[in-house]
Amino acid sequence: MITRHLLTIDNLDAPTLRALIADARACKADPTLAHGQLSGRTVLLHFTKASTRTRVSVETAVARLGGHPIFTRGDELQLGRGEPIADTANVVSRMCDAVFIRTFAHADVEELARHATIPVVNALTDDHHPLQALADLMTIEEHLGELEGKTIAWVGDGNNVFHSLAQAAALVGMHVRIATPEGYEADPEIVRAAAVVASEHGGSLTELRNPAEAVAGADVVVTDVFVSMGEEAQEAAKLAAFRDYQVDAARMTQAAPTAIFMHCLPAHRGEEVTADVIDGPQSVVWDEAENRLHTTVAVLRYLLD
Ligand code: CP
Ligand code: NVA
Repeated sequence: MITRHLLTIDNLDAPTLRALIADARACKADPTLAHGQLSGRTVLLHFTKASTRTRVSVETAVARLGGHPIFTRGDELQLGRGEPIADTANVVSRMCDAVFIRTFAHADVEELARHATIPVVNALTDDHHPLQALADLMTIEEHLGELEGKTIAWVGDGNNVFHSLAQAAALVGMHVRIATPEGYEADPEIVRAAAVVASEHGGSLTELRNPAEAVAGADVVVTDVFVSMGEEAQEAAKLAAFRDYQVDAARMTQAAPTAIFMHCLPAHRGEEVTADVIDGPQSVVWDEAENRLHTTVAVLRYLLD
């Protein structure tokens, strides 16, 4: 039997992505749909980076499905003392039913998946955050209806969250525009591949320098922290480079009048976004955060059916 993993959005095809969002919406409307499905099963969450939304949503999703989550920090598994990833994968595959891992190197998650015989889910690496992208598309659909043809403007860092959002938006035929300062563009390989997928589905992916150009008439304005976890040493340089990339009220007026503002959180008010935008009427960040739970329920139902 082939084990399904969710390491990047590329592990999904368009019908599966749409089905996951539909199931997440159904489970949100009727949480009893999920009850009992993971009864007697355990899910390991191994996180070497901090987390609020991902940890709480995955643990809650597992509990809602009747399963038992086991949470371990980086230094709590022998992995943190040098036990090989392959040996860890072998052992947990004989006890648990799925592993969610949050760590730095994406290659480590790929290696875990190569050796695991249970589903491995990427709970964020330096390069990808697929669970976030699922919640983001669900939130856009809830607020704006059909995804195909809508325009997302990303202002800021070409980072992990952007990579997954671009891949997901491409699969459903959205138009994605990203404005970054020089030197902070998204991964060119991921951009190239996502642009091809987008054009196959009637969408597009455009890289820009000027945030005003990216935001012009957009349906969704998105940003993320300028300094991601693991980049603390670059903080001063990044804050200087991103000075003109803050999403403020003036920037939001350049988007469509019906535009929504999104941010995966945690946010730094006064850096990538002003308080009046993130706490204002166009912001949907709390729905976006809540939808992390519903999309994770859907992911577990899909991977462990
Ligand atoms: N958006 C997100 O993944 O948040 P956490 O880092 O709190 O899990
Ligand atoms: N880009 C951020 C996202 C946090 C959820 C980081 O990697 O720290």
